Amino acid sequence: MPAFAYALPVRTIITDGLLVRATGRSESDVVCENGRVTSVVPRGTVQAGPGDTVVDAAGCYVVPGAVDAHVHMQLDTGTTVSSDTFESGTIAAAFGGTTTIVDFAEQRAGGNVLESFEKRAAEAADQCVVDWGLHQVLGGVTPQALLDARSLVAREGVSSIKLFMAYPGRLYSDDGQILRALQMCADSGMMAMVHAENGLAIDVLVEQAVAAGNITPDFHSRTRPPELEAEAVHRAAVLSRVAGNAPLYIVHLSSSDAMREVVEARSRGTNIFAETCPQYLHLSLEDHLGRGWPDGAAYICSTPLRSRHEHHQRDLWSGLRDDTLAVVSTDHCPFCLREQKLMNGESFDVVPNGIGGVEHRVDLIHQGVVAGELTLERWVEVCATAPARLFGLSAKGDIAPGMDADVVVYDPERVTTISAASHHMNLDHSAYEGFELRGAVRTVVSRGEVIVDGGEFTGRRGRGRYVRRDVSPQVR
Ligand code: URP
Ligand code: ZN
Ligand code: ZN
Repeated sequence: MPAFAYALPVRTIITDGLLVRATGRSESDVVCENGRVTSVVPRGTVQAGPGDTVVDAAGCYVVPGAVDAHVHMQLDTGTTVSSDTFESGTIAAAFGGTTTIVDFAEQRAGGNVLESFEKRAAEAADQCVVDWGLHQVLGGVTPQALLDARSLVAREGVSSIKLFMAYPGRLYSDDGQILRALQMCADSGMMAMVHAENGLAIDVLVEQAVAAGNITPDFHSRTRPPELEAEAVHRAAVLSRVAGNAPLYIVHLSSSDAMREVVEARSRGTNIFAETCPQYLHLSLEDHLGRGWPDGAAYICSTPLRSRHEHHQRDLWSGLRDDTLAVVSTDHCPFCLREQKLMNGESFDVVPNGIGGVEHRVDLIHQGVVAGELTLERWVEVCATAPARLFGLSAKGDIAPGMDADVVVYDPERVTTISAASHHMNLDHSAYEGFELRGAVRTVVSRGEVIVDGGEFTGRRGRGRYVRRDVSPQVR
């Protein structure tokens, strides 16, 4: 008999931890073979054999590898490129316990959807160290663009598009284009992600602020008031209903005002979901935008940071608890301070928008557990299970037989401090500099392979696989 007939499966066994899933917690060990979870058994009941990799999780939580459904690696803005490559950004993601990212292919007005997808997929393919997928941005909604986008479901496993109600002249779609796109989504089951801000009104406020000489970083937030986010959420929800109840997902929701519109739309039966991001839960206009140049530029992102005095953060935590907000993503979009954020000058309207945070989402949301805002199960759900479910990542976001063996061992007691000097993102500053975190990733397993352990990266460039995604079972 040839020797290979007896080859043992490659097993990774995670022992002695507290398994936390969205549905509950138990003292269980997790057995993984050939990249999948094969069994979840009572603690201490699995016998490790020779050749098995044993991951000791004593004193730790064992949670599903997190899914970041909104990132922008090496995003070409036209004047610069976001500073994390797919390689550096996914290494940082891995250090933070994220084992799947979903980035964006971007079709611009006049451009071809299928070509934009192929180009973006080729950029990511040899670089990612964790698994990855792509949403399809439609920056020029035409009948052909909609046909092509729809064909991506079967062709490439892309089950979501993204539309912009902001950025007129760039990625903006008018209401007619959004309605047509939502009709396609209602028909196909694709998820329509929407950047909901009234871009035309914002541009007027920006023009007026600049004309009056009000160009300091805080005017980025002041010219994007919560009312203009709420109005756009309301309009998107109306269009989704008129389109036949298209699956609608509001990205980077930042304000109480916008959240109220989600609640109202749900009460009318709208097929609406929303994400928020750590920056809206932890950072604010007062804390950061009063700093002036150059540091204030670090906090310029859209939707913008809101005033701490208006209770947005309190309401967003509450929305996460009650599932008004289904997901926390990062909207990771890093730009270095002087070379990029300030490359076009010291005026808020010319600063590239975005904050880097792919490495710290799981930790920053864990602070909500520490503070009593969220249960452990809800932490797992918003960081892993819900994004996987909503975006059709059927083998991700949970630890159960048959799922991909993406597992994080999380030490709840370890205390660390965020600093640009020690983070792994290719970013020369951190919007969270000096934040003290309780809880830290100890070990990260991606499809059965240990890729981070005790502060060391043990994976390799290009090991991440493209993940085909189905239309979400939750939205049909
Ligand atoms: O400021 C942000 N969010 N930049 C990234 C692009 C977007 O609008 O999501
Ligand atoms: Zn956006
Ligand atoms: Zn974004």
